[in-house]
This record gives sequence, structure tokens and C-alpha cells, in this order.
Amino acid sequence: MAEEKTIQEHEIGLSAEDIAKEFKEHSVAEFFKKNMQMLGLTGKIKTLTTIIHEYVTNSLDACEEAKILPDIEVQIKELGEEYYEITVKDNGPGLTKETVGKALGKLLAGTKFHRMMQMRGQQGIGAAGCTMLSQITTGKATSVITGTSKGKPFSAEITIDPKKNEPKLDNISELDKEFHGTIIRAKFKGVKYVNSEQAPMEYLRRTAVANPHAQITLIEPSGQKIIFKRTLKEVPARPVEMKPHPRGVAIDDLITLAKYSDTRKVSSFLKNSFDRVGDKALEELAKGISFDMNKDPRQLGWDEAEEIIKQFKKITFIAPRTDGLIPVGEERIQKSLQSIVNPEFLNVVTRKPSVYSGGFPFQIEVGIAYGGDAGRVAEANEEGVSQRKIEIMRFANRAPLLFDTGGCAITKAVQSIDWKRYGMKDFENAPLTIFVNLISVHIPYTSAGKQAISDEDEIMEELRLALMDTGRRIYTFIGRQRRLAEKEAKRKMFYKYATEVAYAVSELTGKTKKDIEQKLHSIVLKHLKLEEQKEKEMDQKSEMSEEEIEKEYEKRKAREKKDSEKKQKKKGISGGDE
Ligand SMILES: Nc1ncnc2c1ncn2[C@@H]1O[C@H](COP(=O)(O)OP(=O)(O)O)[C@@H](O)[C@H]1O
Ligand SMILES: [Mg+2]
Repeated sequence: MAEEKTIQEHEIGLSAEDIAKEFKEHSVAEFFKKNMQMLGLTGKIKTLTTIIHEYVTNSLDACEEAKILPDIEVQIKELGEEYYEITVKDNGPGLTKETVGKALGKLLAGTKFHRMMQMRGQQGIGAAGCTMLSQITTGKATSVITGTSKGKPFSAEITIDPKKNEPKLDNISELDKEFHGTIIRAKFKGVKYVNSEQAPMEYLRRTAVANPHAQITLIEPSGQKIIFKRTLKEVPARPVEMKPHPRGVAIDDLITLAKYSDTRKVSSFLKNSFDRVGDKALEELAKGISFDMNKDPRQLGWDEAEEIIKQFKKITFIAPRTDGLIPVGEERIQKSLQSIVNPEFLNVVTRKPSVYSGGFPFQIEVGIAYGGDAGRVAEANEEGVSQRKIEIMRFANRAPLLFDTGGCAITKAVQSIDWKRYGMKDFENAPLTIFVNLISVHIPYTSAGKQAISDEDEIMEELRLALMDTGRRIYTFIGRQRRLAEKEAKRKMFYKYATEVAYAVSELTGKTKKDIEQKLHSIVLKHLKLEEQKEKEMDQKSEMSEEEIEKEYEKRKAREKKDSEKKQKKKGISGGDE
């Protein structure tokens, strides 16, 4: 009977009042608790790497802001089946008693979200996301020990109340020792430590490449200690906080900013809050505005904000300031790649800063390493010789991106280039490491997991230009190498036959073999010298245009075809013997 009634109820349908009983509010923490994958906390290996990424990027950001040379230690302990304890220790500025709870136990809280500044973190969900994951997989709190330059260090246990998105601090106790920095220790279940391309070790190796000023130590579950030594003793310049550019702002942004402004007039609010808005711009602005600019910014209405935005679009502003961007720098990338992949050829290109839609300044750095240990080791070929395949190292504000490869603007840009034009016939299997770092005050990630960059037109364009530039240089290098190899082979061949030819000619002409041999040698030398001259001319043209490269490539293809035909013929005559 009861069942029947339920079915009937189903058929009746609920009234608005009945449905209203189910109406509830949720906190952002509850939302992310249900959607941990949005934070990149999904998959056993990926989760572990993401946790380390969150802690390490926080340590690097904090050290950079405080102008401290980072010393970071990551320890991973295996506690059981898919059960690990992670400890990350840094020598940064530390956290205060007031902020530590929110920093590690409240989502969407932090020192970065509201500032337009080139930092690794930007959403305020990394550290607290980890605290929550630890809590829901093990039921345990996250421990922290932190010390600042003032007062005594202290330890505390932090949990998060997902219903309220509020932190809870327990066992706070002051420590009787000297310590500046932060140590975070948390336990996680359902994660796995392996040594793969997407694992913590590779993540930290890449972090070291893009942060040559940081010393990073990894203690693996086996107890093995790996140290990525710093190759540079200079702290990078502190990133500068920037203001939004008027061309990129939307009505809603303008109203929100105005609401929290502590200025008293709309005119001074605009001048204070935006990049490139000075007296001249305000004068221009006043021409198209129907209200008094002395008005209180907190009273700014939607229509008025719309008027401002419309007028902003008519004014020719100077492009956004880009001096707040701090690239790694050509020399540093060179040094880093040199020490890590020890390549035969290395080239780094830093593009000028540019701006993508929304008025956000960004800049691209590309490094290309060829030969040596460049590329990633792939399976051995039939003869058992290990092969190398192309390796793309993606970075956003110096933080490595290891996941969502296909969906990332960097990968798309690399794939969009016709590498054959740059002398790379089999690009996928070339011994190449391509380093790409995108820096910006706001990285347009495709999701909160922060693993892929969205393909904004301006970003794609800059990426392609930088890649083509390095491509051109590598083309010159590969060409030069090929010519050297050819020359070497030719020289060997000439000398090999010179003796035999000299003998035969001496028989025919009656002249001494020695004389003939000497003559032949000088002919060979002259020939090679002429080639050298040609080579020099080629090298001088290292800055080739696209068309020239195209031509060069066609020429090379024709030459290779001829060569192989010749070889075939030779093989035929000599019966295949070399
Ligand atoms: N190791 C650390 N040293 C100093 N401050 C930290 C550290 N880790 C986290 N924080 C603070 O906690 C805040 C929240 O961190 P997080 O949740 O990762 O968000 P985000 O890095 O995006 O701001 C940071 O903005 C920073 O102020
Ligand atoms: Mg962070």
C-alpha cells in the first residue's frame, strides 16, 4: 500500500510550497567539496602532484613577495595503501596568527585574488582545497608550524567547516625556538606516488628549471633525497601590482570597484583605480557623460557606469602598463636549460609584453634546446637504442603545467607551426625540449584546476611568433650541422679515392704517383675552401625571412632527393657494397 501511495504522490507533482522546503543555501566550500575535480584534485597521481603544486607555488609566491631566496623541502611519506603524508617546508615570511586559519582553512581567501599582480596563485582556493581533501579522505587536521620576523613561531591544527566555509584552529601553541617560514603537514588517502611524467618529481624538476633562484629538495617515500640546486643567487624582482586598463573593464566590474572605493568623487575613483586614466582622459570622458563626476562613487548606478564604459571605448588610451611583469629572463633560462638538458643547441626568445582581451598584460618566453639530453626519453627502437621525443615544458607564471596538455594554448601553438619549414622533418620524434613560460597579472586558465591556458587570440599570436623566431634560429643551426657533416663525409671520400686515382693516373701518364697525389690533394682543398666560403655566406644570412626559409627547405629537399637517387645508382653498380 505504502509503495502505491508514493507512486501516486510522484504523479501528482509538488507545489511551489513543497519544493520550497528543499530550498537551501550552500557555501563555496560545500560546492568545491562536491566538485574536487574542479580544483584538479582528481585521479590518484594527479591529485598528489596538484597538492604539491599548491603548497610549492604558495611557498615560492610568499618568498618572492618577501624577497627571500626560496629554500623548499618536500617530503612524501607512504603511510599505507594509497595513503601518504606530505610535508612542505619553506623559509618564507611565514603566516600570522590572524591569517593562518583563513590561508589554510577558508576557500576564496588570500592575498592574491583581488590584486592584479604576476603571481603563481590567484584564486585563493589552493591551500584550503588541500586542507579539505585531507579532511574528507582521512578525517584528520592539517598541521602547520609558522614563524614570522616578529614574535615566536607557533604550531596549530587546522580544519575547515564546509557548511560555513570557515576555518577551525586547534592546539595552538607557541614554540620556544627560532623559525622563519612555514611548514605544512597533511595526510591524504586515495593518492599514489609514482615516477612518471606527471608525478611530483617531474613537477619539481620543471619548477627548478623556471625558478633557478630556488633550491628545492624532494624526499621520496623510499627515503631518497633529490636536490635541485639553485643556479642563481639573485631573488627575482618583486612583481608590481597593476591597475586594470579602462579598455578591458566591464560595467559590473566598474560598479563593484566603485562600491569599495575610498575616494569621494567619481573622477578621483577613476583616476585611482585605473591604469592610464589621468586629467586628459577625464576631460575627454566628461564630454560624453550626463552626470556630475563629483558624485560619490558608491552611488554610481548601472546606467551611469554604462555611460563611462561607452565613453572609455571612444578614448584612445595609451596601451596598458606592462612594467609590472617580471620574466625569468633569457640568460637565466639559458643557464637553467643548459644545466638540465645539456643540449647541442640552445636559443631563448623573450617577446615584448602584450595585452590580451580584458586589458591584461602578458608576456611570452620561449626556449628551445636541441640535441644532448633534450627531449624526453621514449621507448628504445628495434636495435635497442633509446629514442628521444619532443618534450614541451609549459609554465604559467613560472609554475609547471603537467596536465590537460591538449587543451592548452601552448600545446596548440606548438602544434600549429609547420616545423618542416624549420628543417624538422619528424618533429614529434626530434630531440627537442621546448620551454614556454606565459607570465601575466591574470593567467586565463581554462578551469579552476589551473592546468591549461585558454587560447586567447593575442596569446596564440605571441606564442606563435616566439616559436617561429626560435624555429628560424634552430633551422640555421640544423642546416649548419648538416653542412658540416656533409663536408666531413666528402673530405673522407676524396682522400680515400685520391690514392687509388693517383696510382692509376701515374700508370697512364708515367708521372710519379707522389706528384699526382699532391695535386689531387690541393684540388680537394680548394674545393672544400670554396664550400666553406659559401657556408659563411649562409651563416651570415641567419636572420632569414619566411620565404627564404621556404626556399632553403625546398632546395634541401631537392638535394636530398638527388643524393638518395645517386646513392641508389651507386648501390646498383657496386652491387650494394659500401
Ligand atoms: N607558505 C606560505 N607562506 C606564506 N603565506 C602563505 C603560504 N601558503 C599560503 N599562504 C597565504 O595563504 C593564501 C591562500 O593560499 P591559496 O589558498 O593557495 O590561494 P592563492 O595562492 O591563490 O592566493 C595566500 O594568498 C597567501 O597569502
Ligand atoms: Mg596558492
